[in-house]
Amino acid sequence: MCGIVGYTGKKQAYPIILKGLKRLEYRGYDSSGVALLKNGILNVYKKKGKVVELEESLLGETLEATIGIGHTRWATHGEPSDKNAHPHTSANGNIAMIHNGIIENYALIKSDLLKKGYSFKSETDTEVLLNFIEDIQKNNNCSIEEALRIALKRVTGAYCILLIEKNNPDTIIAARKGSPLVIGIGKGEHFLASDASPIIEYTKEVVYVNDYELAIVKPDELILKNLGNETITPYITKLDMELAAIEKGGYEHFMLKEIFEQPSTIFDCLRGRLNSKESLIKMSGVDDNIEQILKADRILIIACGTSWHAGLVAEYIIEELCRIPVEVEYASEFRYRNPIVNKGDVIIAISQSGETADTLVALEKAKENGAFIFGVVNAVGSSIARISNAGAYTHAGPEIGVASTKAFTGQLVVLMMTALVVARHKKSISEDRYNALLVELEQVPEKVEAILKNADQIKTIAEKYKTANDFLFLGRGYNFPIALEGALKLKEISYIHAEGYPAAEMKHGPIALVDESLPVVFIATKDPYHEKIISNMQEIKARKGKIISIISEGDTISPDLSNDYFCIPIADELIAPLLTVIPLQLLSYYVGIAKGIDVDKPRNLAKSVTVE
Ligand code: F6R
Repeated sequence: MCGIVGYTGKKQAYPIILKGLKRLEYRGYDSSGVALLKNGILNVYKKKGKVVELEESLLGETLEATIGIGHTRWATHGEPSDKNAHPHTSANGNIAMIHNGIIENYALIKSDLLKKGYSFKSETDTEVLLNFIEDIQKNNNCSIEEALRIALKRVTGAYCILLIEKNNPDTIIAARKGSPLVIGIGKGEHFLASDASPIIEYTKEVVYVNDYELAIVKPDELILKNLGNETITPYITKLDMELAAIEKGGYEHFMLKEIFEQPSTIFDCLRGRLNSKESLIKMSGVDDNIEQILKADRILIIACGTSWHAGLVAEYIIEELCRIPVEVEYASEFRYRNPIVNKGDVIIAISQSGETADTLVALEKAKENGAFIFGVVNAVGSSIARISNAGAYTHAGPEIGVASTKAFTGQLVVLMMTALVVARHKKSISEDRYNALLVELEQVPEKVEAILKNADQIKTIAEKYKTANDFLFLGRGYNFPIALEGALKLKEISYIHAEGYPAAEMKHGPIALVDESLPVVFIATKDPYHEKIISNMQEIKARKGKIISIISEGDTISPDLSNDYFCIPIADELIAPLLTVIPLQLLSYYVGIAKGIDVDKPRNLAKSVTVE
């Protein structure tokens, strides 16, 4: 949530910052702004709305400066507006600051500052922290760096902060706790950003700043310190990412590109790990920790949103294949209740961004109690990846569309492979079943490709139902979490109210919603309970609901019951979710497009939820 960019070097800062903000816009797009420093003059420009609105408002301005900071906001404290947009400037006008996160004790600090005569131009917690820093600097007659250090020891909450000061012509000071910060190292220049996407074009050498670290960044120098003012040696990593991966590559939207990338992202996830001919899955994160996993009495899965849905599918798979009890928890609930976590408990953390605040804090809490954390993460080097004891990356590449698509299928593949490795060690799976599932997994990219070839069929269905006010998504067994995922995607991308339900549970309430205006999406592939779901279709048809079904090739019964249907290749029921989710992703995309929604940046959402 919120994207931040900074540059100090010899080039013009504004174009670099603007481009960076566009790349980070998936993190929030309520408003944006930049602060540029030249010859001791600090110029701040900000605008409500998307980055392009800021860009347009600055056409014709002379924006020369070789140091600057920029921000794209997802509002927490204060509505989206010009005045609440970042950067904020301190009361004396000497400091400009951007912030990603939440200062939880801002109200207390603000009331102290109000008593001291400070007034505030915005409703943000950021401006409070900024003036707190200014006040400390004034009272202690110290450097901004020292004032920041003192301030940060007194605040609670999460932050990634960048600030520039009039008297410091080429220095950006940065700090993080809970919100991500990457520093790119160029020749005589440094780039700072919430993730590597604004940096990749200029350098592949980066430093991931850790919690409670401060960075003093000049064109030729990067100093890292902890809050105790001790210097830390920066650990330089090489980015394993290409620029093409973060561009649209000819697609109209990132979401569509990411849906269509799935044959190759799933292939990449399997590559080097799974070999059906040798009956082998190699996952060092699992292999090296197999004893730890095998001795677990239960597995806890912690995640949010779409990643939580992947967790639900994993619960079914792990219990079936490994016979280990699994509980799936919303991170936001887990962190605030008083859960039982014991030493040696195995926790699977699932996250695309690796930065989701609720998940991260839940894991910190579990780790304190001695749990073993296995991370299933997409963003390499992210906070959740780093806090995990072991794990496996999903290798889906950068996911930029706000709605998670290719990361979800990557998560399912990793979780499936993990379950297979554990089950084989535990001998809870027969060799025949193990080998059959390996072969099926290897076929998934091809089957997804086949589904995508028929995307136009889904487009036609989307056109037909785009004016509906509500949708119901129903599935059984492994496809129940996919019903939840289908409903979530549709809500996010088309603003149509949608509910996901276990198909049989529908009789216990949601059936009251059914009339001739309600589209009901059945995920009804061939599996052991196929006849049961056919009965559920009959129940909806009898009440004149409109049935859209996702069915297996060769199914001769469902088409007669359905107003519209879409066929997917035959697959084992454990593998089916990897296929059934694809038409649902497409459905939400095409309904969103038909309604004229900016599907990559739907209202109120942000990709990386770094606030709780
Ligand atoms: C839905 C979506 C969100 C995320 C959730 C968790 O399309 O993108 O529901 O799945 O915010 O995010 P990660 O996986 O980054 O922890």
